[in-house]
Amino acid sequence: MELKGKVALVTGGGRGIGQGIALALAGAGADVAVADLDLAIAEETAAKVEATGRRSLAISVNVAQPDSVRAMVEKVEAELGDLDIAVNNAGIISIQSIEELTAEDFDRIMAVNAKGVFLCTQAAVRVMRPRRWGRIINVASIAGKIGFPDLSHYTASKFAVIGFTNAVAKEVALDGITVNALCPGIVGTGMWRGEDGLAGRWREEGESEEASWARHQKTLLPQGVAQTPEDMGQLAVYLACAEHVTGQAIAVDGGCTL
Ligand code: NAI
Repeated sequence: MELKGKVALVTGGGRGIGQGIALALAGAGADVAVADLDLAIAEETAAKVEATGRRSLAISVNVAQPDSVRAMVEKVEAELGDLDIAVNNAGIISIQSIEELTAEDFDRIMAVNAKGVFLCTQAAVRVMRPRRWGRIINVASIAGKIGFPDLSHYTASKFAVIGFTNAVAKEVALDGITVNALCPGIVGTGMWRGEDGLAGRWREEGESEEASWARHQKTLLPQGVAQTPEDMGQLAVYLACAEHVTGQAIAVDGGCTL
């Protein structure tokens, strides 16, 4: 699979899954812009992309803000060239029971995970449609396919991403643009690991974070082991190359949603 001459953009690319996807796209030959709320970590990933021999660019963005998203795409096109592949990966999580979830918490998650994907997809389609070629990859989740307790707001946001992806895929299908959702299972990024990650928060009495992480892999995943950012990168490269796969929500989850 070959992406030489293509220009990609990965939001939330400063770390975790986004970084894995950015490096995989670069490995397949694409030049990759790395956008993140945290410019310093976007610059670190951009340096890693450049170390592979590809061109890169670090951009500060808040995907929940229309002006910021518009400026991001303008910058990519001005500095790297026509945008071919948009990976809308930035996302956030929090853990709250349905009783304690506030309207503000709900809005905050939806603003980044659902509205952010809408704004980034719209900005990408606006430049891709006149050129009649594009690949849009929206990072959803296994929580876009099944519900998880204490994550009702996060689950709602990821179901929204999958429905949105399906609808836009049909809207642009005649214009050479594919739109798919990539659904990670459990990946040991900052979202899961550490005291504030899901493994830290979902500990049993007296359990270490490490033991909680091991338990969740065993209980949630038929394969028993977590996926990696590199696994997500492999699927992203495939979706960036594939011509006739569109409107799909593909899980890389070790069988979690079987
Ligand atoms: P992470 O927390 O390690 O990285 C997320 C990145 O997004 C960070 O660099 C952060 O600065 C950036 N970001 C957050 N809000 C932003 C905003 N408003 N604008 C721009 N950038 C922003 O998370 P991870 O695990 O790499 O997650 C990436 C995506 O994968 C998310 O959409 C997440 O929901 C999804 N996912 C992750 C899973 C996991 O097990 N880690 C499982 C399923 C889905």
